[in-house]
Amino acid sequence: MTRKTVRIAMNGVTGRMGYRQHLVRSILALREQGGLDLGDGTVLWPEPVLVGRREHALKALAERHGLDEANISTDVDAVLADDSVDIFFDAAMTSGREEVLKKAIAAGKHIYTEKPTATGLDGAIELARLAREKGVKSGVVQDKLFLPGLLKLKRLIDGGFFGRILSVRGEFGYWVFEGDWQEAQRPSWNYRSEDGGGIVVDMFPHWEYVLHELFGRVTSVSALATTHIPTRWDENGKPYDATADDSAYGIFEIEGGIVAQINSSWDVRVNRDELVEFQVDGTEGSAVAGLRNCRVQHRSSTPKPVWNPDLPATYSFRDQWQEVPDNTEFDNGFKVQWELFLKHVYAGADYHWDLLAGARGVQMAELGLASSAEGRRLDVPEISL
Ligand SMILES: NC(=O)c1ccc[n+]([C@@H]2O[C@H](COP(=O)([O-])OP(=O)(O)OC[C@H]3O[C@@H](n4cnc5c(N)ncnc54)[C@H](O)[C@@H]3O)[C@@H](O)[C@H]2O)c1
Repeated sequence: MTRKTVRIAMNGVTGRMGYRQHLVRSILALREQGGLDLGDGTVLWPEPVLVGRREHALKALAERHGLDEANISTDVDAVLADDSVDIFFDAAMTSGREEVLKKAIAAGKHIYTEKPTATGLDGAIELARLAREKGVKSGVVQDKLFLPGLLKLKRLIDGGFFGRILSVRGEFGYWVFEGDWQEAQRPSWNYRSEDGGGIVVDMFPHWEYVLHELFGRVTSVSALATTHIPTRWDENGKPYDATADDSAYGIFEIEGGIVAQINSSWDVRVNRDELVEFQVDGTEGSAVAGLRNCRVQHRSSTPKPVWNPDLPATYSFRDQWQEVPDNTEFDNGFKVQWELFLKHVYAGADYHWDLLAGARGVQMAELGLASSAEGRRLDVPEISL
């Protein structure tokens, strides 16, 4: 086996996503498993270069994980000018993404990035175009596709379980504390639109690829986005105006007539089994898929409820569903997608979750917000470069 070291600049690696999912659960996990076997006698050895604004935070990270202190930098331009760095990854706050990715593309780096790729469609398409012109490869995180629950749902779809799929009901969200009497569990910029925050910008890109890849292209969107909680408290305990939407109620039409309705909210208390759940109803059967689990009810075992509010329900509807078995081992979804991207860059494997796919997500967010502002349903034009 030949070992090939790949230097990956990781920007925003002190953040929630950058640290936990991308550094620890993906890149360091790949090192713990001995690198990534490309299947051609080569093992890829990822070498993270930690990039950020606060040197002490980067140093502390390097120390905690036994990484070389020479591989940290607060100077993005210097990292981009370094020819030994192959890939630039960005998980910093959304508002800075477009600019930093443009620089990274111009420097000839392959791009891997969190979503959304930009705060507007024009910028997102421009990024995809620049990457194509420069001949660099790109990947955009679409982690939900690799969740065990959604992989089981995909298995059901591919196996023809549903018959004709009629509708999808998605329920996403949980209570995010305001930050006054209990610390908020999400960063304050998420609640300021001027900083790239907002639940539509955050979640509609996810819904675009989930719907597109599982059910078909979304052809129209109508949404109502709102800010239920107008004042929150930031990381320093100071009150601030929450200028961004914190809940969005969306309806998405999908080619072939499927209707998806997805609620996204940071102001909802969870009365479900998982933080996101999708119920899919088809002529032959239905399923409820979450992050990890998936339950089904076949046509043949569907009960016949009769509406009568005068009588208490004599059985539990939830108990009439059957758990779909794992039948395989599921790895962390972020890591799985990193592996696919690295195989794409270094072994020529197919990969379609690129900056153009990322732009479709940004488009969905932009149209969702426009639909809400204008109070009407909007068509979703197909985009290409
Ligand atoms: N794929 C997913 O499921 C998922 C989930 C949450 C967030 N995200 C995305 O990940 C990105 C980061 O989100 P997060 O929740 O980790 O945020 P975070 O606030 O925890 O982390 C942001 C990172 O950016 C850095 N940063 C902050 N301000 C900066 C500035 N002005 N210049 C440069 N760097 C700055 C911070 O130091 C930190 O390292 C966002 O784009 C978000 O949309 C994706």
